[in-house]
Amino acid sequence: MDLDPHDAAALARAVALADRGRGEVEPNPPVGAVLYRGAQVLAEGFHAAYGGMHAEAAALAAAGGAPPDATLAVTLEPCSARAAPKKQPPCTDAILRSGVRRVVLGEIDPDPRHQGAAIAALRGAGVEVVTAPAGSVPARLLAGFRAHLLRDRPYVLLKWAQGLDGRWRDPRGEERWISSPESRREVHRLRAHVDAVAVGSGTVIEDDPRLTARPAGERPLLRIVLDARARVASGARLFSTPEEGAVLWVTAQSAGPPPPAGVERLELARPHDLAGALLPELRRRGVGRLLVEGGPTIAAAFLAAGVVDRAWVFVAPVVHGGAGGAAPALGAGGAMLAGTMRPEVESVERSGCDAWFKLCWS
Ligand SMILES: NC(=O)c1ccc[n+]([C@@H]2O[C@H](COP(=O)([O-])OP(=O)(O)OC[C@H]3O[C@@H](n4cnc5c(N)ncnc54)[C@H](OP(=O)(O)O)[C@@H]3O)[C@@H](O)[C@H]2O)c1
Repeated sequence: MDLDPHDAAALARAVALADRGRGEVEPNPPVGAVLYRGAQVLAEGFHAAYGGMHAEAAALAAAGGAPPDATLAVTLEPCSARAAPKKQPPCTDAILRSGVRRVVLGEIDPDPRHQGAAIAALRGAGVEVVTAPAGSVPARLLAGFRAHLLRDRPYVLLKWAQGLDGRWRDPRGEERWISSPESRREVHRLRAHVDAVAVGSGTVIEDDPRLTARPAGERPLLRIVLDARARVASGARLFSTPEEGAVLWVTAQSAGPPPPAGVERLELARPHDLAGALLPELRRRGVGRLLVEGGPTIAAAFLAAGVVDRAWVFVAPVVHGGAGGAAPALGAGGAMLAGTMRPEVESVERSGCDAWFKLCWS
């Protein structure tokens, strides 16, 4: 259906708002919403963080209610009782409670399980629902979400830090951190907005990390160690701090000793098969967004398997020299960084004294 000029302007503004959530909300779709009356914008909202408030709810909360002659423009069909994610209450209920009587939708939910459910619920309650002509919302806003619906794995973010000579650690072991305090804060902020964080056994054995988000996010963070040979010792901090979050120890079948108390062991017949075994299992367990923090062997394995959606790379102004700590031998993984699979460079920012590359494949 054709939109009137106020509807079209509000929807275009909602698209611009949705774009602000890109990189922060995946695998959820970025969504924007505008509450308006004629040419007057009453409130705006967008989905700003994975697991956080949805765009419609944010706009309605900002408005503190809606006058009866207001319209809500939203880039994507809202979630309904049938479609609501576990993390947020259904937006359709919030719209009905707000008193909005007219809604303009940019796109219908592409998820066949939920498609049209909110439209039916709103119309059933007497709300006028106007769907925008095809192409009103640019394809980029839903491309990642559409791809995610077809995949049997979580959305994967890969993060690493390196010096100017490409080294991932100080071979002399003098500097524990390569990246700046500002960059490390960004990583903690990211941890607060994922379902799980994974590292390889090499990193646990050498660095003994806790893998918590500090400050903690609102959601529980599953800490995963990928350790086919079960080499990580029971005294590792990850294993001795169950109060700081659940731990999943991924090993080959019958490898090593039983798991320490409070640690869940996931035994896989093919623990190194990321695309075929580990990632589908994590998705089944409700991991929608996974942060992979290395080390270099694990990073190369994820890149080689072609299962990285976004990467954050911090390049610090240091040259370590010497032997050891070299960048991963990417081998086939290089294909995700060059040639036809080369990522889109979403942004290059400064983070303290580091250069911060955000790369994106979907
Ligand atoms: N600069 C950074 O961003 C950064 C980040 C993290 C770590 N680091 C540094 O990296 C160093 C450790 O490097 P690393 O390469 O030994 O550690 P790693 O990548 O953390 O762990 C490597 C181990 O992971 C296991 N693994 C589990 N699943 C795998 C899979 N699908 N493919 C390949 N291996 C898999 C392998 O052992 P199994 O065969 O037993 O499974 C392998 O030996 C530390 O010095 C740490 O400080 C740097």
